Amino acid sequence: MSALLGLRAFLFAPLPCENYSTRAPASGEIELPGVLTWAPSRVGVAGGGVARWNRRMSGGRGSRVLYVIVCAGAPASGVGELIGAAMGEGWDVCVIATPAAVAFLDVAAIEAQTGWPVFSEYRRPGEAKRQPPADAVVVAPATYNTINKWAAGIVDNYALGSLAEATGLGLPVAVLTSVSDALAANRVFGRSLNELRDAGVRIRRGAEGEAFPWALALEALRG
Ligand SMILES: Cc1cc2nc3c(=O)[nH]c(=O)nc-3n(C[C@H](O)[C@H](O)[C@H](O)COP(=O)(O)O)c2cc1C
Repeated sequence: MSALLGLRAFLFAPLPCENYSTRAPASGEIELPGVLTWAPSRVGVAGGGVARWNRRMSGGRGSRVLYVIVCAGAPASGVGELIGAAMGEGWDVCVIATPAAVAFLDVAAIEAQTGWPVFSEYRRPGEAKRQPPADAVVVAPATYNTINKWAAGIVDNYALGSLAEATGLGLPVAVLTSVSDALAANRVFGRSLNELRDAGVRIRRGAEGEAFPWALALEALRG
């Protein structure tokens, strides 16, 4: 009888990757509405395989998780500098790109650097979550378009949905803008920045025409 019970427990035990999607969200966890378009073997989890994937997804990781949200701004292709600096500070970095930003990025290089897939689309209904919950978020480069939509409460892409949830939960969020002087002078933009500041978002301006000051993003996050 006990052998039969043991066999039953073995057969119906959850697969490692199911643990994350079926557990109740922990306090402070972002419920990310993503798409499961990736299997652990595709990106850099090969270093620890499914066990490492499961540990990271179930919150048993050693490091804090930083979401880097990348918008379709001119400096986007250099985001590897920010990722490297964040990883050097001990962050486990997950990159989320706006749909428009994907064309600016070397997605394979980012996935190799972070060990996580880059997501830009929502997951399909009923599909499992794909990323661990964030401890903090950086938006860089942050475009005029994304800042205004975020401040207005629009969530028509996965990056905006993640930002809305992060600000709603009161997570530390730092923004490094890449916006031309002409667009920055628009009063709508000023209103959006004020709205985000009021929500606790830490905002820094990346100067136009100069090397993009990636380090400011992490400085802002440190407060
Ligand atoms: C080469 C190129 C560079 C751009 N750089 C910027 C930029 O630095 N800042 C900005 O606000 N928009 C910039 N844009 C316009 C944005 O890509 C456009 O507004 C886009 O819709 C933003 O989408 P997102 O905010 O969803 O990423 C650039 C467009 C191109 C083609």
